[in-house]
Amino acid sequence: MTLKVSKLALLALVSFKMKLARCSVNPIEIVDQHFYDAVTHEPFFIKGVDYQPGGSSGLNGERDPLSDAEVCARDIVLFQRLGINTIRVYSISPDLDHDACMTMMAAAGIYLLLDVNSPMPDQHLNRYEPWTSYNHNYLRHIFKVIEEFGHYNNTLGFFAGNEVINDELSAKEAPAFVRAVVNDMKDYIRAKSPRSIPVGYSAADDLRYRIPLSQYLECSDEDRPNSSIDFYGVNSYQWCGQQTFQTSGYDQLVSAYKEYTKPVFFSEFGCNIISPRSFEEVEALYSEEMINTFSGGLVYEFTQEPNNYGLVKIDNDGNAHLLDDFVVLQSRYSAVESNEFQMIRQNAINPMAAAPLPSCQNEYENLETDATVPRNLAEDLIRGGVDQKRGSFTALHENDLISSYKIHDSHGQLVKGPSKVKIVNEIEVTPEGNSNGNHSEDLDSDSDGSHNDENKEKTKERNNAAPLPARPASVLWIVWVLFIFGRLCDL
Ligand SMILES: *[C@@H]1O[C@H](CO)[C@@H](O)[C@H](O)[C@H]1NC(C)=O
Ligand SMILES: *[C@@H]1O[C@H](CO)[C@@H](O)[C@H](O)[C@H]1NC(C)=O
Ligand SMILES: *[C@@H]1O[C@H](CO)[C@@H](O)[C@H](O)[C@H]1NC(C)=O
Repeated sequence: MTLKVSKLALLALVSFKMKLARCSVNPIEIVDQHFYDAVTHEPFFIKGVDYQPGGSSGLNGERDPLSDAEVCARDIVLFQRLGINTIRVYSISPDLDHDACMTMMAAAGIYLLLDVNSPMPDQHLNRYEPWTSYNHNYLRHIFKVIEEFGHYNNTLGFFAGNEVINDELSAKEAPAFVRAVVNDMKDYIRAKSPRSIPVGYSAADDLRYRIPLSQYLECSDEDRPNSSIDFYGVNSYQWCGQQTFQTSGYDQLVSAYKEYTKPVFFSEFGCNIISPRSFEEVEALYSEEMINTFSGGLVYEFTQEPNNYGLVKIDNDGNAHLLDDFVVLQSRYSAVESNEFQMIRQNAINPMAAAPLPSCQNEYENLETDATVPRNLAEDLIRGGVDQKRGSFTALHENDLISSYKIHDSHGQLVKGPSKVKIVNEIEVTPEGNSNGNHSEDLDSDSDGSHNDENKEKTKERNNAAPLPARPASVLWIVWVLFIFGRLCDL
């Protein structure tokens, strides 16, 4: 009897610890119209936020949303409080180092959806004259982003474009170029990345184009077999305040994408006409009515910017002030973790026969798709690769996981106690992984020199001025934790 009890207790303890920490961060893959954990094969639903502190002007040669480990620690702590599993970032610079932030995100169980474009010159398509921007410099930039982020297991997917088609003229000029970019990215990934990372598109909230464009980007083109997207992101601001599945028009969204052969999700949502936002649409999004068609979504957006969609206000000292929207969304996201919603998710996905990919038509409503796009422009870059440091997980010191910034709750009260990233995945840092980048000495040690030297000097200066806490000399803390959990991982 006592033996039984203690065995049970041991089992409970083990399963508790197993829940606490998994032994690696598993990639997410697509099967038919859903995302799955590639190792456990559990369905994966995106529960996230859009993340670009400072907006597009926050991006420059020295800083982007995933380059500053201290800022990442501050925000990942808040992502975990909010209960999310994914962020979307709109622009990064592949010349900066993202290893620390990506490792921390992986350890925290947070996946990344990344746009490969940026507002900088040569780093996006010109929507009205795409032929002027579809060139080697542009392709080199997007391949560099893939080369760097393709090596992190928690990169969930890449967006080839965001709202490129958003008016009559762009709908006339740009669609065929977007498909070409998708094709080039998929060919690059196939040739150079360690796994098949999905490539998708994020569509503007404009009904004239959203549905025809989804069909055009989905269809199979015998001539260019790799030019079809892997997933479709819908930016939707149609549920404002108190609505229902019907009054919001979500019912029509679901019927529009019911037969879609790829995963669809909200790449942006959260109408702010009525503020603070009540985020009632969250319950609908993860309900039985939507879960088979929509793979979740991302709320626009984490930080407060001039357009007033923020969940968190960051002050001039970098301290965080939670807004009412944060508190409401936190409770909505936590409500969809109830047993009832978990059951819905588990039962949602019927293994239905994979629908065949529709063939491309000659015409799509409101779009012109017959522009002549240069072929084989990417060929040399794909064969030779691009000169770019590959991202890899890095050893972190325990201090790296603690944010030194202050957090104030929505009443302005200081949140007491240390804010520390919770480890949910043990990230094993292999010696190869670490030496691969070899960047702890010099951020730019193996860059291709394509960015100017002045920038380089500045980056170095910044590194010297504010080094991360003595990382190379410190105990490999995560490896140490791995040792502690090692036996449990083996079970
Ligand atoms: C990445 O995922 C693969 C499974 O596809 C796994 O074997 C590996 O350990 C993971 N790497 C890390 C660092 O978690
Ligand atoms: C496209 O994908 C196929 C596999 O589906 C691959 O063999 C081929 O090399 C890719 N590229 C082109 C240009 O077809
Ligand atoms: C890493 O860089 C340092 C100097 O920058 C160099 O001495 C060392 O050999 C490099 N290590 C590897 C494994 O490339």
